[in-house]
Amino acid sequence: MDKIRIVGGHQLNGSLPISGAKNAALPLMIASLLSDETLTLENVPRLRDVAQLTHILSNHGVDYSVNGKRAGEDAMTGQTVHLNAANIVDTTAPYELVSTMRASFWVIGPLVARMGQARVSLPGGCAIGTRPVDFFIDGLRALGAEIDIEGGYVNARATKGLVGNRVHFPKVSVGATHVVMMAAALARGETVIENAAREPEIVDLAQCLIGMGAKIEGAGTETIHIQGVDRLSGFTHPVVPDRIETGTYAMAVAMTGGDVTLEGARADLLENALETLRGTGAEITETNTGIRVKRNGSGIAPVDVVTEPFPGFPTDLQAQFMALMTRAKGTSRITETIFENRFMHVQELARLGADIHLDGQVATINGVETLNGAPVMATDLRASVSLVIAGLAAKGETTVNRVYHLDRGFERLEEKLRRCGAEIERIAAS
Ligand code: EPZ
Repeated sequence: MDKIRIVGGHQLNGSLPISGAKNAALPLMIASLLSDETLTLENVPRLRDVAQLTHILSNHGVDYSVNGKRAGEDAMTGQTVHLNAANIVDTTAPYELVSTMRASFWVIGPLVARMGQARVSLPGGCAIGTRPVDFFIDGLRALGAEIDIEGGYVNARATKGLVGNRVHFPKVSVGATHVVMMAAALARGETVIENAAREPEIVDLAQCLIGMGAKIEGAGTETIHIQGVDRLSGFTHPVVPDRIETGTYAMAVAMTGGDVTLEGARADLLENALETLRGTGAEITETNTGIRVKRNGSGIAPVDVVTEPFPGFPTDLQAQFMALMTRAKGTSRITETIFENRFMHVQELARLGADIHLDGQVATINGVETLNGAPVMATDLRASVSLVIAGLAAKGETTVNRVYHLDRGFERLEEKLRRCGAEIERIAAS
């Protein structure tokens, strides 16, 4: 398995490009199942999760193609992909394909809405908590689907089509909002989603669906109204920039010091996290092309955070922020409210010399003067990158093992950081 080797202690300076958001690209690709015409997505990141989802979609019969290189593009430019689901030949998403990525479960919504049936394996994904699927099942049942679970598979049927209804989620769920919104787009009559997720990726999917002919209002608020239509058409849609990648690199700069412009980043997608970073002493400004992050001289001030659904501080930046806080001048507390088991990075950060105490969902971090490089193990996607951030500031050499987690969600991480002066390289498995 590949490893990442980092020699810490270098400031980051320069600029790096922000890719399209993984967590927007995945539901957008799945939305191609709703139409028999071609959906073209621009700015799609080159990631393992994207590749995995193409396998899953191909298995349903979706034709997938990627544009070749165009004038002015380089390896950092997002891809343009075309997805055509004119012939869905299989409505089963098998365990072997779904178990490695939770978002692939989301095909259940479009499949049952368009084909009247779906058989989808219960999902896998990052080991960050139990992550049940009850909201999906209740939501699709509310739209008239008959659902049973047998042998690890969820079987959904709606032979006469789905029918719009009121769907109230007991807790905000990004995935369940995506799925019910997609399914309701092809249901008869009106669906109202209450307590909907407001994440930018929900808005991005809604904009694409509207471009395909869906009638959706209120995406980005707690209540989404969807008036079902008979069919959706093709469309061309650019994937929104990745706010988690943006926040991650912003935290890396706050950690090492320096001055980096994150090209293509949009501050409105992560205001809470940027404000939190300002509290730590980083200078953050919007430029014509992205976001500029600077920290010079002064140390890192401790700031407490609580993860919350959007527009709150994102759980997907919790581990990275904890890495930053390990070197703060004082004590900070991080409370994780979204997933019950998302602190696996704590013991790995401790290997680098961090002083962190866990009490249930609350981590107390006493900042230390120095971190020292060590071999560490990536455990999930965001935890892995938190170890990279810590390694960039640690004295000496850090090796991050099991980096396949990183490749699920960070495009060309080493290249981007190296461009800004980091000493980081991938050591391919022999
Ligand atoms: C999405 O996961 C993201 N994944 C996650 O990013 C992100 O951490 C999460 O939203 C929260 O922001 C993608 O977009 C592909 P949820 P999702 O449903 O949709 C509970 C990353 O690192 N819940 O919003 O799976 C659930 O257990 C990943 O990129 C139920 O109880 O998350 C959790 O406590 C990891 N029943 C809470 O809701 C359900 O049926 C929020 O989860 C569904 C969810």
